[in-house]
Amino acid sequence: MDKDTRQAPLDMDGETFRRLGHRLVDQVASYIDSIPGRPVTQAETVQQIRALLGEDALPEEGTEPGALLDQTAELLFEHSLHNGHPRFMGYITSSAAPMGMLGDLLAAAVNPNVGGWQLSPVAAEIEGQCIRWIAQLLGYAPDCGGLMVSGGNVANMVGFFAGRRAMLGAAVREDGVSGAGPACVYASKETHTWLQKAADLSGLGTGAIRWVGTGPDCRMDIDALERQVSADRDAGLKPFMVVASAGTVSTGAVDDMVAIGALCRDQGLWFHVDGAYGAPVASLPEFADDFAGMSQADSIAMDPHKWLYSPLEAACTLVRDPARLVDAFSFQPVYYHFDQGDREGLNYYEYGIQNSRGFRALKVWLSLKQVGAGAHRQMIRDDIALARQLFELADAHPRLQAISHGLSITTFRYVPEGVDHTAPDQQEYLSDLNRRLVTALQVSGEAFVSNAVVDGNYLLRACVVNFRTGPKDMAALTEIAVRLGQSLE
Ligand SMILES: Cc1ncc(COP(=O)(O)O)c(C=O)c1O
Repeated sequence: MDKDTRQAPLDMDGETFRRLGHRLVDQVASYIDSIPGRPVTQAETVQQIRALLGEDALPEEGTEPGALLDQTAELLFEHSLHNGHPRFMGYITSSAAPMGMLGDLLAAAVNPNVGGWQLSPVAAEIEGQCIRWIAQLLGYAPDCGGLMVSGGNVANMVGFFAGRRAMLGAAVREDGVSGAGPACVYASKETHTWLQKAADLSGLGTGAIRWVGTGPDCRMDIDALERQVSADRDAGLKPFMVVASAGTVSTGAVDDMVAIGALCRDQGLWFHVDGAYGAPVASLPEFADDFAGMSQADSIAMDPHKWLYSPLEAACTLVRDPARLVDAFSFQPVYYHFDQGDREGLNYYEYGIQNSRGFRALKVWLSLKQVGAGAHRQMIRDDIALARQLFELADAHPRLQAISHGLSITTFRYVPEGVDHTAPDQQEYLSDLNRRLVTALQVSGEAFVSNAVVDGNYLLRACVVNFRTGPKDMAALTEIAVRLGQSLE
């Protein structure tokens, strides 16, 4: 290091950054245009991918940045699974809005630490506005508290911990759950596995979960819920929370949130909604009946990286009473010397699990602002219509059995000619065949679906949270499924 100046190797002057950045943006733009013409995935093996990276130890010397970026862009473009592909309908990961990609670049460039208001004045306010806009879109309390987190698991966990503290009392934070009595939480058996993680990490243990049965529509059986809560009370247990699913991961089922909310009010339980996937549908007037009751929730989890088309990672938790988040999470690091002034209560480190926090909200805020609520509603509506179209195509096809359509998820299976799909002794064969079909479809690169298991039957499951998917992709998916199914018989 020179006595008066320092030129750190990682630093970059504006001119170099501009040259490298322009080149990379050009490559990304071409990549975006090229996605529909690519296979969804090359389905390469672990060995093939590792061979691309080689086994070199961490290099002691650097690499020329232009060549490094070129090679890395190529590596990613040529060897990734493209979830921005029109025929990617697996799991619940959306096509990433290009505006969101630019948002992430901008967020990383300014790099505000959104843990403290003073460290991120504009960013913290944009996050606050983003949370209010999402609440508005969902028809939730406009003065709710909330924050951005990494994904649906964490978004639900934040609601879970807020409820745990609110219902089990302040002492739970110091004494742990053992002092709070045998607490239990209720959720349908279709609930996502985040709940096991939350019960485990919170110290309650997964044994605290009461798995409530579902009806044929995969929605929580409300009578069974009521019976279980009262049986547990009689047995001296301490019910404290009910989790409703607003769009289950397997079939898009939406629990009866009016009934669950009423039960929670009567019984003094925390009402949490897992809307990680489905909550944005509450913005569509035609779904008002299905989502009635969600606005009464004490907390809601929803993921912009699912159905608001944000690049990963972006999820959020909304809590009706913002103080519940502070109660559950606030500790004051001694090294924080924020001059609070009028910023009291505006520091996100008090609202959730993270201390230092990135600017996840920007990409979501930018996309919402770019096209507005109306366009988001229309994209969501179109996704639902496409899933419906797939259900109808499968229903009309002699070799396919349409099983369910909920929100933008359709489940179906391939049934070979001459096989009676209602025969109990054919179910194992059909499940095995369709399990192999999901694999064949995934590795084909022609389209990508995942699976659901409903009533023990293995099904193909397509989920459309993808503004690039269109009607012809649905027709193509049925054709591909039948063709590959026939080849596997
Ligand atoms: C209903 C529901 N909840 C929670 C999650 C978990 O979300 P993430 O994978 O973002 O943690 C998912 C994921 O698909 C989901 O569908």
